[in-house]
Amino acid sequence: MISPHGGRLVNRVISPDLDDIRELEHVSIPEEMQGDLRNIGIGVFSPLEGFLSYNETESVLKEGRLPNGVAWTIPILLPVEKSTYPDEGSDVVLNETAVMHVEEVFTFDKKEAARSIFGTDSTDHPGVKRFLSLPDTFAGGKIDLLKNEREPFYNFNLEPKETRVLFKERKWRTVAGFQTRNPPHTGHENLQKTVLGLVDGIFINPLIGRKKPGDFTDSVILNSYKVMIDHYLPRDRAVLSILATEMRYAGPKEAVFHAICRKNFGCTHFIVGRDHAGVGNFYHPEAAIEVFDQYPDLGVKIISIRGDFFYCNVCKHLASERTCPHDEKDHINFSGTRIRELLREKKRPPDEIMRSEVFEALLQEEHPFVGE
Ligand code: ADX
Repeated sequence: MISPHGGRLVNRVISPDLDDIRELEHVSIPEEMQGDLRNIGIGVFSPLEGFLSYNETESVLKEGRLPNGVAWTIPILLPVEKSTYPDEGSDVVLNETAVMHVEEVFTFDKKEAARSIFGTDSTDHPGVKRFLSLPDTFAGGKIDLLKNEREPFYNFNLEPKETRVLFKERKWRTVAGFQTRNPPHTGHENLQKTVLGLVDGIFINPLIGRKKPGDFTDSVILNSYKVMIDHYLPRDRAVLSILATEMRYAGPKEAVFHAICRKNFGCTHFIVGRDHAGVGNFYHPEAAIEVFDQYPDLGVKIISIRGDFFYCNVCKHLASERTCPHDEKDHINFSGTRIRELLREKKRPPDEIMRSEVFEALLQEEHPFVGE
């Protein structure tokens, strides 16, 4: 079994004395950070034991590594509003869910940080827009998780310690993690099935949490994957479970972060395709593949599949510009925009790009898209 990132699976779940907790100062943090509190507590973000300090943040931004040299690319930060600055050295309760041992309260140049994380400080980038809208002050320090609630999606929300047991029980020596923020199209399926020719099992791990307006909602993604697993993937070789964190759209840096989280779940391999975690034209389609050259020590092996899949009417199967000699007019692309338009008009996309059962699952949803 692959070692967790940094060597040890973090477990900061505690059963506290409730009287002690009641006496502490209570601080509310945005609801969407709830997932990350749990991710820290149950070890999805190993070796992090809390929110980053100033030095750790600087090191991640400048070196793409924690101060001890362990690879880390996305700073996990706790923004705090002026009215609720906790005292350095104090213990505070966050959203009734975790105790934070506040080590320091700090600021840094957020625009410069955005350029490091996202490669741009343009607010046309949804991740940058969100990041720059956060308060300018952050609190760093370890946390202890008081409530380890398996929400959302109780039946599909496994902890790293559980996936590690599951993979072992299934006797999978090699497991590839698959990140997604979309319902499956046949391009995704092709990627997964190609990889199933290389490894024992696949861990389909949709990212559930804050996304940009117009993206698919969490329940659409999960429900469409349930259908996909039931109908088109070998039951004994695929596991479906969520990763509850926000989508940052940070392309290459987020690809490394995604790989680390899946390593913690016990994946030996991680799949990276075209423009992984990208948005618009902010990243070169292969940037999220090439970034891994800087991390030969990552531990988890990257299965990088280059090329932009489409269906070719002449080849009569899925292809990419790397494999298909035919003209663009013969290609059907996996345009998210097109699938969304068809969904709005309740028109079925061609079977070549989306399984009819998957599209049926999308049609069941009253509000399939994240609102503006
Ligand atoms: S992502 O933001 O989570 O990367 P998405 O859910 O679309 O978006 O992608 C999941 C994985 O499939 C990523 O590794 C991505 O690179 C890959 N992928 C998605 N669409 C294509 C495509 N048309 N061709 C090749 N790879 C793709």
